[in-house]
Amino acid sequence: MTSSIEPCAGVRVAKLYIYGASGHGKVVAEVAVALGYQVSGFIDDDPSTVGKHVLDLPICGGFEWLARNAQHSKLVVGLGIGDNRERYRIAQQCRRRDIPFVTLVHPSALISRSATVGTGTIVMARVVVNAEAKIGDGVIINTGSIIEHDCSVGEYAHLSPGSVMGGASSLGAMSWLGMGAAIIQRVSVGAGSVVGAGAVVIQDLPETVVAVGVPARVCHRTARIEESAKNDTIK
Ligand SMILES: CC(C)(COP(=O)(O)OP(=O)(O)OC[C@H]1O[C@@H](n2cnc3c(N)ncnc32)[C@H](O)[C@@H]1OP(=O)(O)O)[C@@H](O)C(=O)NCCC(=O)NCCS
Repeated sequence: MTSSIEPCAGVRVAKLYIYGASGHGKVVAEVAVALGYQVSGFIDDDPSTVGKHVLDLPICGGFEWLARNAQHSKLVVGLGIGDNRERYRIAQQCRRRDIPFVTLVHPSALISRSATVGTGTIVMARVVVNAEAKIGDGVIINTGSIIEHDCSVGEYAHLSPGSVMGGASSLGAMSWLGMGAAIIQRVSVGAGSVVGAGAVVIQDLPETVVAVGVPARVCHRTARIEESAKNDTIK
């Protein structure tokens, strides 16, 4: 995990591709542009999209295209996939081929100097991350969400637009906090769980459950998450 949100040396001179040409990918591309990156194009594993354009940028190919090109040119990837498991899978594939991915923090986001943000994490516009919060790798902190002091967010989790984490609360790896949902202070949501849009979590939720409502109540279970992801949850 990085302790700084500055891009590492060399990243700025490499070609940046956004992995995932979906709606979420578009927003990630625009975060990169706002940061001054020149985006070279999109990567997408759906072969029917190759050659098409999104935001006037080409969809160049799938993972094999990326891996081939990474052998002879310097490139980096922005993780533009909204689905947590899929984003994790792609990140692992990139790691195995030594393809680096970038951490992108929109210029309008306010990140405390004492907070840490993991590699490959995407921070959208108008996010606030307060003192000593710890954000894992590959996380999405979506538009306007707030992570209060001393929170922890496990890797490949997703905070949807307008969601809020109260002080010292935690969101487990691969979990998904829905739009406008809140976790009150010191409460934790287990790995691989889903909190529905608008829910308010007032007591700890276990792993791999779906909870909705105010106060949030478990309505059913999600599929088990991969052991590897669970074990990698940030400390
Ligand atoms: C929570 C959620 C994931 C549930 O999806 P699901 O697992 O497919 O569950 P279902 O749609 O079968 O709903 C199960 C029950 O919960 C209710 N429910 C679903 N979402 C709810 C919500 N956000 N708030 C309150 N109740 C909700 C359903 O009405 C249903 O109730 P019932 O059993 O009485 O009929 C989904 O509704 C949701 O809120 N997703 C978040 C969307 C979001 O924030 N997107 C951000 C994109 S950036």
